[in-house]
Amino acid sequence: MAPLQDDKGTEVTEVSIPKRPISTVVFIIAMQTEASPLVEKFQLAQESNSVFPNGVPWVRYSGKYKDLNINIVSPGKDVVLGVDSVGTVSASLITYASIQALQPDLVINAGTAGGFKAKGACIGDVYLASDVAFHDRRIPIPIGKLSTGDSLDMCPHDEKAIVANDATVKDMEGAAVAYVADLLKTPVIFLKAVTDIVDGDRPTPEEFLQNLAAVTAALDQAATRVVDYINGKNLSEL
Ligand code: ADE
Repeated sequence: MAPLQDDKGTEVTEVSIPKRPISTVVFIIAMQTEASPLVEKFQLAQESNSVFPNGVPWVRYSGKYKDLNINIVSPGKDVVLGVDSVGTVSASLITYASIQALQPDLVINAGTAGGFKAKGACIGDVYLASDVAFHDRRIPIPIGKLSTGDSLDMCPHDEKAIVANDATVKDMEGAAVAYVADLLKTPVIFLKAVTDIVDGDRPTPEEFLQNLAAVTAALDQAATRVVDYINGKNLSEL
């Protein structure tokens, strides 16, 4: 049999897709504010017996919703600075540890993102990303629609890379989660809700903070629709 190839002709390893309904889902969510509405919606409880190494601030909520075992994993607060540990480093670590410990059928990276009005993004829109890429690695990379870097702002150098990535939304975790999920051959979905217009007139931090609460409500609704949709389905049906 000829080796499998992706749409760019690169050889890919065959991944066996279980022929049974999706059972375990792990949400990777960077900020407490983004995670809390979903924890309530799915009536999850914080796990006290950690499957993670002793001493890490990572937080896991879990419970049953319909036929699904739902986990929400967040990086928690930075032990020195007391703020949410956003960004690619923590996102990679918790994705890796969660897949190792929980063996999910599916990972969902849900969170907020900046949107580009040049691409039609508006505040409160929720995107299911079709592709992801990093924009702050000075290495030529394939086109991606969700562009990820470790900064909330956008310097001219990043702007060039983001435009080259043809991005509609820009976040701080997606490509890191994609990297680890791909390493561990675990399917992943990206749900990104727009809190600020990156190519608009307003300062990003101000617009982000102003819209964070309202937009996480839109994220919460979209994530619930996704979970209701996947409930009872096999991966091959998505
Ligand atoms: N999350 C929300 N808005 C963002 C932005 N403009 N850049 C990166 N991450 C974000």
